[in-house]
Amino acid sequence: MRVMIKKESVEALKNRVDIVDVVGGYLDLRRSGANYMARCPFHDERTASFSVNSKGFYYCFGCGAKGDVIDFVQNMEKVSFGEAAQKIADMYNFTLEYERGADYKKRDYRPLEALRNFYRDNLSQTVEAKKYLLDRGLGEAMIEKFEIGYAPDNAPQLEFLRSRKIDYANAIAAGVLVDDAERGRFYARFTKRIIFPIYAATGAIVGFGGRTISDHPAKYINSPQSEFFDKSRTLFALPLAREAILRAKSAIVCEGYMDAVMLHQAGFTNAIATLGTALTTDHLPLLKRLENPRVILSYDSDAAGQEAAFKAAKLLAANNFSGGVALFSGGKDPADLVQSGSAEVLARSYENPVPFAKFALQKIIDRAPNPDAAFAECGEFLNNLSDLAYENARMFAAAMLGIDYRRFKRRYRPLEAAPSLLSGRGDINELQVIKTLRIDPALLAALADYLDERIFCYHRDLFRALFSGDERDFYPLAAEERIGVLSAEQTREALRALLVIYYEKELLRFRAFGDAERIKSAQLVLNELKTQKKLAPFREI
Ligand code: GTP
Ligand code: MN
Repeated sequence: MRVMIKKESVEALKNRVDIVDVVGGYLDLRRSGANYMARCPFHDERTASFSVNSKGFYYCFGCGAKGDVIDFVQNMEKVSFGEAAQKIADMYNFTLEYERGADYKKRDYRPLEALRNFYRDNLSQTVEAKKYLLDRGLGEAMIEKFEIGYAPDNAPQLEFLRSRKIDYANAIAAGVLVDDAERGRFYARFTKRIIFPIYAATGAIVGFGGRTISDHPAKYINSPQSEFFDKSRTLFALPLAREAILRAKSAIVCEGYMDAVMLHQAGFTNAIATLGTALTTDHLPLLKRLENPRVILSYDSDAAGQEAAFKAAKLLAANNFSGGVALFSGGKDPADLVQSGSAEVLARSYENPVPFAKFALQKIIDRAPNPDAAFAECGEFLNNLSDLAYENARMFAAAMLGIDYRRFKRRYRPLEAAPSLLSGRGDINELQVIKTLRIDPALLAALADYLDERIFCYHRDLFRALFSGDERDFYPLAAEERIGVLSAEQTREALRALLVIYYEKELLRFRAFGDAERIKSAQLVLNELKTQKKLAPFREI
C-alpha cells in the first residue's frame, strides 16, 4: 500500500518533533557540545561516532549513515517512510494529513471508544462482576480511574454496535468483533469478562484485556495484534502512570493488569505492566522516553515470574537501565500483596531492589552446572554491558565466584577517539569555508568568481553539495561542530590560502613539464595572491 502524506504535513511534523527526543528513545545519547553522541545503531562499533543534532538530523562519522528523524525511525524499525512518519506522529499526538484519494484509511477508534463506554456501564449493572472485583480488594476509585468494565454476552454487544451504527468492518479492524465466516455470523471477541481498556503511550485507546470470571480456560484474552494494537510495544497503564514516573524518576514494571491496578490503589502510581508478553527491546523506547527512569521489576514470585525476571534483568542491564528486581516470597504477585494488606512489604522491596546485573549474575551462577561454565557465562553477560556497568558488575561476579576480578577480560578494543571529518585526510580550512558558504548564500554569490571545486582537494563532495540542493549532503559537515563558521573577511582569507595551495601545485606541475608560459602565468597569479594578498578570480591556466 502506498501511503501519500502531504508534503507540508511531513515538514510540519519534522518541525514539531525534537529528533534528540525521538532518537533518545532508542539510544543512550550523551551530550557533546551542540550535538548528542551515541554508539551507532547502524554499524558495529565501540566508539560513539553517531551524532544527533537538534537541528533535526543525525550523522555517523564512522559509517556515514545520515538522515532526518523519519529516516532514523525508518531504519531503526525497518518500516516504510509512511509508517515511520505515522509512528512519530503517534508519539507526538500529531495528525498527519494525507493526500486525497490515497488508499489510506484512517483508523476508526469509534468501535473501541463506544465499547469501552458500553462495558463500563455494564459493570455497574452486573452484580457478579462488580462483586468479583470488590472481592479481589479493588475499590471504586480504581474501577473509575482504569475505566474497568464488564463485557456481557454476545447478543447485547451486537445489538449495541448496531444501535450505534458502528460499521462491523471497522469493529473487526479494531479487534473487538470477529467474523465467523464459516457459520455466517459475527461475534464479540470479549464476552463475560472483566474488561481492562488498554491505551497507547499517546493516550489513544488501542485494545482491551479481558479476564474471565467464570473459570473459562483462557484466564485472560487480549486484543489481537492489529494496526491499533502491538502488544510488544505497549505498556498497560502508561498514560496513567506517566506523571508519577517522571516525578519519581522510576517505573514499577509488573506482569499483569491486576498487579498494575492494585499497585495504583496502594499508592504506587508509577506502576505499569506488560501485556501477557515478556519485556522485550521493543518496550524499551517507551521507557527511555520517560526520561530514562529507574526500572523496578515487580514480577510474580513463582517459577515463571523468576524466569521472566531473569530475562528482563539481562535485557535491562545490557541496555543501561538502572534499577533492579524486587523480590518477595511465597509465589505471590504484587496484586496479592496489596490485597492482603502487605503494601509495606512491597514498599520495602521497591526501595531496595537487587540491581539487574547482580540479579542476573546470581541466577547465571545458580544455574551453571560447574564453576567453569559459571565463569564463562558470567563473562558472556558482562561483555554485553556498557563500559561503566562492566566494571561494577565484574566486581560482583568475581566476588560471587570467589575469583580475582581481573580474570574477566573484555573482548573488544579499548575505546578510541571517534572518527571525524578532521581525522585522516581532512582539511579544516576547506571545511570552514564550505560550512560558511552554506550558511551564507549571499557570500557564496559574492565569491562565486573565486570558487571552483578544484581548489577543494580534500572535500570536493562537500563543495559540490553547495549546489546540489539536497540538504542531506550537508549533514556530515553540520554534525562536525569543531568546524566553525567564519566571518566574510576570514572566508576571503581562507579562500586565498586555498587558491595559493592550488596554484603552487599547478606551478610544480608546469615546472615538471617545463611549460614556460604557464609557469609565468602561475607565478603572476601567486604574486597577486601572496604578495599583494589580493583575492584573484579562479581561472584555469
Ligand atoms: P489474576 O489471576 O487476575 O490476578 O491474574 P494475574 O495478573 O496474576 O495473571 P498471571 O500472573 O497468571 O498472568 C500475568 C499476565 O499474563 C496477565 O495479566 C495477562 O496479561 C497474561 N495472561 C495470563 N493468563 C493468560 C491467558 O490465559 N491468555 C493470555 N493471552 N494472557 C494471559
Ligand atoms: Mn500474577
